[in-house]
Amino acid sequence: MALLELISITKSYGKPEKKTLVLDNLNFSVSEGEMLAVMGKSGSGKTTLLNIIAGIDYQDTGEYIFDNQSVKLRRTSDGVRFRRNKIGVIVQHFALINDYTVYENVEMGLWESKLSRRERRTRTIETLEKLEISGLVNQYPPELSGGEKQRTAIGRAVVARPLLILADEPTGSLDKQTEDSIMDIFKDMNQSGSTMIIITHDEDVASRCTRTIKLEKR
Ligand SMILES: Nc1ncnc2c1ncn2[C@@H]1O[C@H](COP(=O)(O)OP(=O)(O)OP(=O)(O)O)[C@@H](O)[C@H]1O
Ligand SMILES: [Mg+2]
Repeated sequence: MALLELISITKSYGKPEKKTLVLDNLNFSVSEGEMLAVMGKSGSGKTTLLNIIAGIDYQDTGEYIFDNQSVKLRRTSDGVRFRRNKIGVIVQHFALINDYTVYENVEMGLWESKLSRRERRTRTIETLEKLEISGLVNQYPPELSGGEKQRTAIGRAVVARPLLILADEPTGSLDKQTEDSIMDIFKDMNQSGSTMIIITHDEDVASRCTRTIKLEKR
């Protein structure tokens, strides 16, 4: 079954007299349980696409259907409500909160959930263990390596067990070994039921996904 569908999506940026068309009549769907790689040159619109799927940005024309419902968002707070407990996002440059510890950064992913404090704690600890960063709970992001920051960002995105996980170049600046272990974690999450969309420039990462789509630069 399709988890999401994009129908004739277009998106441009800039003033009406000087518009840059980024997505031109884009059509595709993603089935439940897929692990989709999105590739394409820098500037081809990968992050733009991810932002539309996440409800962070909106298309100009066309229809976006998520979980059988047409997504119509007008403001930031609509997006927050739309994502709540359904979509976890790992953004391009982590966006960790430097004043929060690793534990607090991961637990943040549950702020919108209805779990009790005790359940939040259990869930956060489970996630930290799975990502092998339990030893870092009291450290702050500036004290972490790139791979550790990435695991923390992943923890925050997955702790609520969303239907869909979106990751924007999650292995961008990591060495091969760290990249492999992050991909193992993603495979694991995919096999336990999360649909995944991973933006990547890396053929090895794409080859570990179940399908690849390529965006063309306009
Ligand atoms: N908020 C914005 N305002 C104006 N132009 C934008 C905005 N966001 C993106 N763009 C433009 O849209 C195009 C696509 O950007 P996008 O970030 O989606 O590319 P990308 O494929 O993710 O690139 P990269 O691989 O470098 O991350 C670029 O030309 C960019 O300059
Ligand atoms: Mg990008």
